[in-house]
Amino acid sequence: MEEELTKLVASLENDLKTCTKEADILNVKSKYVGKKSRIMEILASLKDMSVDDKRKYGSLINNTKKEMEGLVTKASDELANKSNITFDDTIDFDITKGSLHPVTIVAKEVTDILKRMGFTVVMGPEMESEYYNFEGLNIPKDHPARDMQDTYYLDNGMLLRTHTSPMEIRSMENYGAPLRIAAPGRTFRNEDLDANHENTFFQIEGMVIDKGITIGNLIYIMQNVLREIFKTDVKVRLRPGFFPFTEPSYELDMGCLICGGKGCPTCKNSGWIELIGCGMTHPMVYKYGGVDHEIYNGFAFGLGLTRLAMMKYKINDIRILNSGDLRALEEFDIH
Ligand code: DAH
Repeated sequence: MEEELTKLVASLENDLKTCTKEADILNVKSKYVGKKSRIMEILASLKDMSVDDKRKYGSLINNTKKEMEGLVTKASDELANKSNITFDDTIDFDITKGSLHPVTIVAKEVTDILKRMGFTVVMGPEMESEYYNFEGLNIPKDHPARDMQDTYYLDNGMLLRTHTSPMEIRSMENYGAPLRIAAPGRTFRNEDLDANHENTFFQIEGMVIDKGITIGNLIYIMQNVLREIFKTDVKVRLRPGFFPFTEPSYELDMGCLICGGKGCPTCKNSGWIELIGCGMTHPMVYKYGGVDHEIYNGFAFGLGLTRLAMMKYKINDIRILNSGDLRALEEFDIH
């Protein structure tokens, strides 16, 4: 009897050593301590034994069963604690110190500033309809303004939004007036890539609708946003611009911080970077958005977050930002 029990335990230990997954352990468990296992048979035979044998073997058999169950549990725990990943020591895992992407950081900064001014942050789809991207913004088909933004059209009749301005219409539809929203997000244009152009970049749209809003309010908000972002005096200039969805329209440029205004490839040698398009919202846009322009008016702006990140972190080539190259992005060492 003793010999048989010792053999059973040894054989169980051997079988457990070959288990590589939980299912293997379950099979071994059922074979050795399951209802039809040998130890159960032996246990059941106890009742037919003589009183002497019962005394002799009873606790030995019971203890062996407990020991076998313990071995199974231990093997199962060990397997669960073992990671499934096998490490290759030739790989250097030291480079995985994480850092936020420069665009993520400036997006958060700008939205935080706008939130403090009472703006609500909203997000919209990157795949848009022509209606929201163009028509609703007073850019009808065949309007020359469509050429200002080379568009990726998709096979399903939709397009990749060329700006965050569709969120103006969507927000008016969703929330009505008065309104104060900020909509950051990824935008796409079919551009030839160079140091200052990417086909994928980020903007943030802002829109304010209320009673009695003036250009003064627009300029005040823009000044405050920029002051908070740069925390120092940055040269800015406001130029008359043209956007079909604002009247009047302005473009706000900032002095190029890469060359200090002397002229470089990033600012196309002009010393200035176009940062914000803005203006008083056009009456047609209120009509599309379902806002009563007899009562309400306001302004909107689109700020180039990618450009802003380039200026803030003095990144002279926009392609670095989309490269996904951790070594390049780590250079900025911003956390
Ligand atoms: N959507 C424009 C662009 O990407 C920028 C812009 C201009 C946004 C004027 C506005 C605006 O909201 O009022 O070029």
